[in-house]
Formats: sequence, C-alpha cells, structure tokens
Amino acid sequence: MGTLDGKVAIVTGAARGIGKGMATALLKAGAAVTITDIRREALEKTSAELGRIPGARHLALVADGTKDEDVSNAVHKTVEAFGRIDVLINNAQTAVTGVNLEEHSVADIMVAIDSGFLASFRYMKACFPYLKESQGTVINFASQAGLIGNWGMVGYNTAKEANRALTRTGAREWAKHNITVNCIIPGMLTEGSKEFFDANPEHYRHSLTNIPLGRLGDPEKDAGSLVVFLATEGAHYLTGETFNIDGGRCLRP
Ligand SMILES: NC(=O)c1ccc[n+]([C@@H]2O[C@H](COP(=O)([O-])OP(=O)(O)OC[C@H]3O[C@@H](n4cnc5c(N)ncnc54)[C@H](O)[C@@H]3O)[C@@H](O)[C@H]2O)c1
Repeated sequence: MGTLDGKVAIVTGAARGIGKGMATALLKAGAAVTITDIRREALEKTSAELGRIPGARHLALVADGTKDEDVSNAVHKTVEAFGRIDVLINNAQTAVTGVNLEEHSVADIMVAIDSGFLASFRYMKACFPYLKESQGTVINFASQAGLIGNWGMVGYNTAKEANRALTRTGAREWAKHNITVNCIIPGMLTEGSKEFFDANPEHYRHSLTNIPLGRLGDPEKDAGSLVVFLATEGAHYLTGETFNIDGGRCLRP
C-alpha cells in the first residue's frame, strides 16, 4: 500500500531533472502519473525507466505548455486514462539566461513567461474542474534566482516570481473548493546542473559553502518526498506557501 494509492498526478517537464525525480517518487508512493515534456527522446527514455517501477501506472505525453491545445489534450488524456486528477505539478520551464536586462528583448522575456508562468496558468485552468472534484492540490515552481534578482535572467526571475503570485491567488480563490496551491523553491543536483558543475568544479565547491547542509538535493529523495507529502491529506491545511527545499541556503527569519 502506498500513501498515494488511488491518486492521479500530472508532472510537467518530467523527461529529466526534478520533474523526473518527482514523478518517480509519486509513482513509488502509489499515484498514477502523467509526465509531459517537449523533448520526445528524453521523455521516451524516462518513460521506459518509470515503466520498470513495480505496479507503476504512468502516461508519457509530448506536450508543450505554451500551447493551449497541448495542455487541454494532456489533461483530457490523463482523465481518459486514470479517471481523475488530484495533483498538478507545474515544473516545466525554459528561459533565456546570461543576458543582462538592457540586452534582453521582449521575445526573450516571453520565452520564460510563456513556458513557466503562462503554462502553469493554462494547466491550472484546464485542471480546475477535476481538482474541484478531487479537492486536490497544485504545486508551482519558483526559484532563489527570482527571490534575489539573479544577474542575466530577468525573464526567468520574473516568470518564477509570477508563479508565486499565481500560487497565492489560486490558494485564496480556490480555498472555497478545498483546493490547495503551494510553491516550491528547489536546490537540486540535476543532470543539467551536474554538467555545469563538472565543467566548473570551483563553482561547485563554492556553491556548497552556501548550503548549511553541505550538499545539493536529490530530485527523487528530496523534492520527491516533499511533493508526496504535499499530495497527502495530512498536508491539506497548507496553502499559498512557498517551500524552500535547499538545505538551508535561503534561510530567513
Ligand atoms: N535545479 C534546481 O535546483 C532549480 C533551482 C531553482 C528552480 N528550479 C525550477 O525547478 C524546475 C525544474 O528544474 P530542473 O533543473 O529539473 O530543470 P530542467 O531544465 O532540467 O528540466 C525542465 C524540463 O522541462 C521541459 N520543458 C521546458 N519547456 C517546456 C514546455 N514548454 N513544455 C513542456 N516541457 C518543457 C524541458 O524539456 C526539461 O525536460 C523548473 O521550474 C526550474 O525553474 C530548479
């Protein structure tokens, strides 16, 4: 028996990284999970791996969160396959980075806004009737970069902070339906960050000095455990919150 037996989740951008780790944890906890991504090959590889989890039920869909029709198709296919939606995890994000504010174009900004903030908004709207029925939960994604206004990423920073406003608005407006909406700020070691740190070992050592627990998180064990908890009944009095899961990096009063 898993803690999430009978529950159904959608995780966007789950072909790799934190999305893949969270999908794995949700499946191991007994939920049925739809994973989406725009990278077909990586999605198929991840789907094959998830298929080896004993008893796991999942659906892998190439779906671009910037396209209304892809979002509505992903929601429709999930309900067709599993009959309900309890958990929506808006994890996918693309962004132009390494470009200072004065060099950023509106088109650059829109890459982050559309794939991150607007995609979360589209999925929340499309899932609303099902979340209302299941009295479910939404988990959006923000970033330390947005909190501190990291260099060269104005589009990303803005999209991630917009997700926090979306979270608080959804939490307040949907509370009457007993739907909870929260946000996660992760600090995880993913395939992407591993590649960067392998090429920049000094940067890696320096990053660790800023983390009280002395390590980056694991997408399945750390981010996955948090979303499994947020998907349980026991977490249903938490709403509108931002959870930093970063080994203490963003400690605040
Ligand atoms: N890695 C970290 O520690 C960290 C830190 C702060 C915030 N975050 C946030 O956590 C989330 C996951 O981060 P990650 O490091 O695993 O990212 P990642 O880039 O490794 O994975 C994101 C996935 O989303 C997919 N994707 C991008 N645009 C998409 C779209 N339009 N439709 C569908 N899928 C799309 C990508 O193909 C990719 O597989 C993101 O929202 C990111 O901003 C991560």
